[in-house]
Amino acid sequence: MESAGAGTPAPTQPPVPHPAVAPLAFLLGKWRGEGEGSFPTISSFRYGEELLFSHHPSKPVISYTQKTWKAASGEPMHAESGYWRPRPDGSIEVVIVQSTGLAEVQKGSYDAEKKTVTLQSELVGNASKVKQITRAFQVADGELSYVVQMATITTSLQPHLKALLKRI
Ligand code: HEM
Repeated sequence: MESAGAGTPAPTQPPVPHPAVAPLAFLLGKWRGEGEGSFPTISSFRYGEELLFSHHPSKPVISYTQKTWKAASGEPMHAESGYWRPRPDGSIEVVIVQSTGLAEVQKGSYDAEKKTVTLQSELVGNASKVKQITRAFQVADGELSYVVQMATITTSLQPHLKALLKRI
């Protein structure tokens, strides 16, 4: 086989994920898109969003960061970050801290074939109104979509966020 000539950079290969992370390879990388927020108690709104799922081959964990901005003006909105810990049995534990000060411990499951992750809050901390949060993610046709629902002290579990993102 012909070798690359002097000065030709080697092609960059994405690092092989840790075996615990490999079933969630469908999520890894950077995604950008748009979403819509709503809730019975607020006016609906549109937002732009970027998600990053990163990993190191030696760690059984995915680092997660999210940032959002107003679709119309680009002004920053909500941001959050955390760690996703998949287990070989198909269960997953996720911790997320939000720019509002709220902290979540989420438990759920993933399906590597269907490319889905579903999470329910086991703990919502430092929240004045929020009682429960669910998150459902799916990758289909190369696009990542999710729905976030929440229950508050006044309102039962209802959708708050829906978004569709493309890998960048
Ligand atoms: C409103 C929680 C994510 C933008 C609210 C309210 C709560 C809440 C409790 C007030 C609802 C009420 O008064 O009945 C959450 C939680 C989130 C989340 C738990 C994540 C799991 C986001 C994101 C954005 C956002 C990602 C922006 C992209 C808004 C806006 C309002 C709102 C604009 C209405 C205005 C306001 O009350 O500030 N959210 N939110 N939220 N949220 Fe979220």
